[in-house]
Parts: sequence; C-alpha cells; structure tokens
Amino acid sequence: ERWAEGSAHAKTILLGEHAVVYGRPAIAFPVTSLTLVAHARSTDGGLSLDTPYHHGAVAGDDSLSSPREERLAEAALRHTLDHLGRQHHGVDVTVTGRIPAARGLGSSAAVASAIASAVARLEGVWLSYEERFELVQFVERIAHGTPSGLDAHATMAEGPIIFERGTARPLPHKGVPPLVVADTGVAGHTAAAVAGVRARRERDASGVDARLDAIAALVEGALDELRSRDYVGLGERMNACHSILSELGVSSPELDALVSAARNAGALGAKLTGGGQGGCIIALAPRATDVPELVAALSAAGATGAWPVTDKEAA
Ligand code: MEV
Repeated sequence: ERWAEGSAHAKTILLGEHAVVYGRPAIAFPVTSLTLVAHARSTDGGLSLDTPYHHGAVAGDDSLSSPREERLAEAALRHTLDHLGRQHHGVDVTVTGRIPAARGLGSSAAVASAIASAVARLEGVWLSYEERFELVQFVERIAHGTPSGLDAHATMAEGPIIFERGTARPLPHKGVPPLVVADTGVAGHTAAAVAGVRARRERDASGVDARLDAIAALVEGALDELRSRDYVGLGERMNACHSILSELGVSSPELDALVSAARNAGALGAKLTGGGQGGCIIALAPRATDVPELVAALSAAGATGAWPVTDKEAA
C-alpha cells in the first residue's frame, strides 16, 4: 500500500492585517504548536476525505466543527489532483491535528497546504514552493475572495516573515518574542471583514487610506524593535494597531474584552489578529517566563484556547 504525509501549521499576524490587502507590509509568525497532518493513501478508485472539521469529530469543541473547512479540504484535494493530471486516481486522505477553524489562524490555508503536500508526495511529484503556494491560494480564493497571499506564505514558513505586495521574506533576526495567541471562541468572518473595510473605503477613501498608512508605519517601526528586542515599544505598536483596526470596524466586543484582559494581566501590548470580527487576539508578555501566567490569565478571562507562539527553530 502506498501512502504519504504532509503537514502545515497555524499562523498569527503580529501587525499589518487588512492593510496588507492594499499593498502595505505585514509581519506574521508561524504557530507550530497548532498543526494539521494529512495522510494520503492510494485506493482502487474514488476520493474519500476525513478531517478534524467533520461535524462532531471532537465532542464539545466547536472550533473543530466546520462544514466550510470540510468543503475547502475537498476543493484542495480535487484541485491538487487536477494540477498533477491525476484526476482519476483513487485517493483516501485523512487529516488529523488541530487548528481552530475561522479564528484568523490560517486553518483554511493550512488544510490546503497539508493536503497538497501529502497528495503530491503520494503521486511521486515534487512541488516547488511556488506551485504549493498557488494550490493554497486557489483554496484561499474560495475561502475569502481576494486573499493577499499572507496566510498561504505564513502557514508554509519556518519562521517569522515580512510580506509585501506578493513577496514574503524571512525576518533577518532569529527568535520569536514572548507572544500568546488566544481565541475568543467566536468564529470570525475574514471575507465579511475584508468586504467591510472595502465598503468603508468606498465611502471615505482618504480616512481609510490614512489608517492603512498608519498601520504600515507601525509595521516598519516594529522591524527595528524586533531586532533590538524593544518589547515595550513593540507592545505600544500592537496597542496602537488594535485601535486603528477598531476604527476600521473589524474588532468586536469579545476581541476588545480579551485585549483588555491581556493588558490587565501585564501584557505589554495586545491586539486582534487575522481578519477580526471574532477569532483571536495576540498579546506580548514582558518576558518568556511570563508566558504561562498570561496564558492562564487569558483562559480565566474566557478564552477558549490560548497558545504560546513558537516557530520551528524554537520547537
Ligand atoms: C487574514 O488572516 C488577513 C487579512 O489581511 C486578509 C488577507 O491578507 O487576505 C485580513
């Protein structure tokens, strides 16, 4: 029996979501503690697919019950086989692992990336980075229309990246700051949030563009602070970014509540991360040793999940 595996991890955006859709830069980190593994097996005929998003797969965990993610996984499987010219091959794919769906953590990109890798390996085809990226972007377009490409790159990256106008570069300095991602437990709607910003920009182009430029300036300045590990300065930028994203209409009461809880628990900064209107926040602890306490404080404040941000190098 022939089989192969592929995996992908979650991502979190430090600064730059939404502005990145309009050509501004963004900084993202892999979240290697949240991964998906796709196991592909050749069969006599037909396609079969099982994912953790199958309804009721994990009792009591809503974030892992997502018909949308199931559909995206199926689209990824079919599109990968088309791309490889193997439409008629029988394949059975089982995806395991855990990345909460619709939480701004890149679950749709990760599920596509893991499936594309596993199926290409099964078929004995080596996919270039660009090919894999394009397969993921195909699924991202189904998921939310006009993806910048940030999520696809970030779920495939080994370490922190800066992304601008279609190009992702690794950040030059090693090491991830003491960041925590926490889930409000409310599904976010990236497509709706992106559409909301677009509608606002149609009404008020100069007001929205000024805010997008302000986010871009926060990203540029953060590069120096990451290099010098000036986490006080970086935290202030995260707070400023959350205010701007709120003005753009992409926060929510639940996100604001977790952001406040993080700051009250001693975080140097906190903001929503990803598309918003639900989903997750990202918060910066003063030191790595403060991370467990911040995780505990966010859980106590009602977060349905809270995870330290680690990359492959740290893991
Ligand atoms: C979603 O994770 C990030 C957004 O900037 C959308 C995109 O980049 O396509 C909101």
